[in-house]
Amino acid sequence: MYFLVMKMRSSRNILPLLSTMIQRTCKFSALPELTKDRYPNVKRGNYSQIDTKHLNFFKDLLGETRVITDENECLGYNTDWIKANRGYSRCVLKPKSTDEVAAILKFCNENLLAVCPQGGNTGLVGGSVPVFDEIVLSTSLMNRIISLDETSGVLTCEAGCILENLEKYLDEHRLIMPLDLGAKGSCQIGGNVSTNAGGLRLLRYGNLQGTVLGLEAVTANGQILDCMSTLKKDNTGFHLKHLFIGSEGSLGLVTKVSIQCPPKPKAVNLAFLGLESFDKILMVFKRCKHELGEILSSCEAIDADSLAATTDNLNLKSPLEKFPFYMVIETHGSDNGHDEEKLNRFLSSLMEDGTVEDGIATNEPSKMNAVWQLRERITEGLIHDGYVFKYDLSLPLENFYSLVGIMKERVGKDAVRVSGYGHVGDGNVHLNVAVKEFSADVLNKIEPFIYEYTSKLRGSISAEHGIGFRKTKYMHYSKSKEAIDLMKSIKKMMDPKGILNPYKVLPQ
Ligand code: FAD
Ligand code: MLT
Ligand code: ZN
Repeated sequence: MYFLVMKMRSSRNILPLLSTMIQRTCKFSALPELTKDRYPNVKRGNYSQIDTKHLNFFKDLLGETRVITDENECLGYNTDWIKANRGYSRCVLKPKSTDEVAAILKFCNENLLAVCPQGGNTGLVGGSVPVFDEIVLSTSLMNRIISLDETSGVLTCEAGCILENLEKYLDEHRLIMPLDLGAKGSCQIGGNVSTNAGGLRLLRYGNLQGTVLGLEAVTANGQILDCMSTLKKDNTGFHLKHLFIGSEGSLGLVTKVSIQCPPKPKAVNLAFLGLESFDKILMVFKRCKHELGEILSSCEAIDADSLAATTDNLNLKSPLEKFPFYMVIETHGSDNGHDEEKLNRFLSSLMEDGTVEDGIATNEPSKMNAVWQLRERITEGLIHDGYVFKYDLSLPLENFYSLVGIMKERVGKDAVRVSGYGHVGDGNVHLNVAVKEFSADVLNKIEPFIYEYTSKLRGSISAEHGIGFRKTKYMHYSKSKEAIDLMKSIKKMMDPKGILNPYKVLPQ
């Protein structure tokens, strides 16, 4: 058993571009069945079929190169990251400005053409790809940084900026983005806002409902809604930005964002711990809130099967022997001597009383990066098993891990792996059932049971990934009929023809 504390040289290296990872993954994964065939009960709405007249309009507006119609080129935009959903759109539009988005949506609304907004296409619930032949509206060319106020830390930028690029830009100004996730190399800030993404440091920096100060969005009829406040406090009327934060492209297309960015921490320290039981994880979490206090920036849990998905499938090396559970604890502070000493004192006491069996502590960027890869790349590692049934639940902490054992019994040998990991500091578990290939029988063993279980414990059936396409019929397990009816009324009012991301978010 050992704790190793090294001198920090510079900030943590940014993880390898996820886009490269996605390309690698795509090469060996078979294409998923078309969504319309896998889910035959979902019927295409009465939308227009795209024709030459429509395409000519888009080409006049955007030019030939920003209207993609080639089947092969469209494939990546039709297929989601975890290879669970596939549409068959033959039209991908790539606007470069809010005015172009407005003109597209106005035309689509008038011509009853359905639209699927898409950012980095890293969403995990099937919301970012068409179900049938919806037009894909990609924000990837709307990627300008507009301004940064270094005093207030407020960044304004277009929706298509890739999260990792924003991080790199802010790094030069000694600031960071308030969110960080494994998909940072591909996901876009507009997608993050539209999913209200959580990530690895929500417990320290809060969620996007708080850190997004303002946004610009285009509604279904092409109207541009300017809510681009850069103020921290603004209680004038309804907070309309919240209609778009987390509504997954069903109420409008987010085109610009202003966001509060925290200062870059001068000191970053990280511990990777091995533990014998989940109860001990909870003990560590409770204690680290008190003993690390204001410097705690992340508290993540990983079980043995999740870690094995990265060590076995991606050949990553763990610095620890095998344990049933692991934790990643990170601190962000302003005085390395103070933080290092505080973390070491905390870890020593955990070792002395036997709460933790083994661990490493480091502030060396390459070592911290290696540990973060073990955590962040679990999603990718699991895909190598075949097909992944993915669940993202908020549960009371005492029940955080209980479903993993229950699910192992339910699916038995049908699964290659049943694993649990996630943001224990936020009460958000990621339960994954990996199988060789999609199987409706396995699906029926998991759903709706998993949602009934979560509902009985008053948890949430989607903590951070959203509802997308795959969870719409389960919304009632987390929301009352009255709440769902109000959501439907808001949708009807803002998008009466239902052209924005149909078949997603709300139950049909
Ligand atoms: P997309 O996948 O393109 O779209 C997501 C949804 O938002 C879709 O419904 C889409 O229609 C809509 N949308 C996209 N852009 C816009 C826009 N400009 N206006 C309106 N609607 C829009 N999520 C977390 O919360 N926490 C994590 O820790 C996390 N880690 C991940 C790790 C990996 C390896 C992967 C693959 C995914 C992870 N995710 C995580 C899920 C995903 O990355 C997030 O949901 C992310 O915010 C999606 O951003 P995107 O740009 O890829 O959006
Ligand atoms: C994570 O925390 O790693 C993400 O939410 C992705 C996942 O659930 O696999
Ligand atoms: Zn997560």
